[in-house]
Amino acid sequence: MASHKKDTLSKTFVVALLLCVVCSVLVSSAAVFLREKQNANKALDMKKNILIAAGISTDNVEAGFRRIKTQKLDLQSGELEGAVDPTKIDLRKMAKDPTQNLMLNSQQDIAGIKSIAQKSLVYLVNDEDGTLQKYILPIHGKGLWSTLYGFLAMDKTFSQIEALTFYEHGETPGLGGEVDNPRWKKIWEGKLPFDELGNPIVRVIKGRVDPQAQDASHQIDGLSGATLTSNGVEHLVNFWLGQNGYGKFIQKMRGSAL
Ligand SMILES: Cc1cc2nc3c(=O)[nH]c(=O)nc-3n(C[C@H](O)[C@H](O)[C@H](O)COP(=O)(O)O)c2cc1C
Repeated sequence: MASHKKDTLSKTFVVALLLCVVCSVLVSSAAVFLREKQNANKALDMKKNILIAAGISTDNVEAGFRRIKTQKLDLQSGELEGAVDPTKIDLRKMAKDPTQNLMLNSQQDIAGIKSIAQKSLVYLVNDEDGTLQKYILPIHGKGLWSTLYGFLAMDKTFSQIEALTFYEHGETPGLGGEVDNPRWKKIWEGKLPFDELGNPIVRVIKGRVDPQAQDASHQIDGLSGATLTSNGVEHLVNFWLGQNGYGKFIQKMRGSAL
């Protein structure tokens, strides 16, 4: 009976409070101690995704990444600004920062992203001998439910698409999520995204592309039951290849490759 009297309300609160304090100290120390490891894992994951877009094995990420040179790019001038460590640049943060972003008006914003960072990154992929093979460009844009983040790999003359990959999105598995389907990604390889004036003209059509059609080289089969995600991908690819995305840089590179 005497032990029951000890269970007062204030003691219950004290125990609960102590438990909360101990748990929050544990959680915050874990967050602090693991931050470095988390950042290292994030950087490794990002490099892995770039290697996948480059078509380089990810068995040894650091070795594979030695074939990739990362350059900072000024989107408005189309000028490369030198080598950078890609893990030190946060394009998403920059796109939200009024001192580092460019706001897009509704006419420009076909990718539904409102603003972009003034600078971007370009990954130059070399072969084993150090000869430039292709370029990889970070891209993103709205699908149906989410913003899709990925990479577009272009050949060294910026004439054809080498690969399109997404590493983050929230589209529905089996519908818009089929953007990750290797069969669909394969369709993009070798497509010609520009008209004769250098304007991006990629079309993700409803249904299947007729290989005999005049525009077949610019067209991609739509994802069935996911027209809205398909449209989003079309728009984001055209946005980033256009004048408000990498257009100026691409024009320069195409000019010098002729
Ligand atoms: C639960 C649910 C999830 C859906 N997810 C997607 C999606 O991820 N992407 C998409 O384009 N459409 C999605 N849709 C279908 C769209 O609402 C729309 O019907 C579709 O994009 C039209 O494409 P279709 O003309 O090819 O059928 C989803 C529908 C439902 C009910």
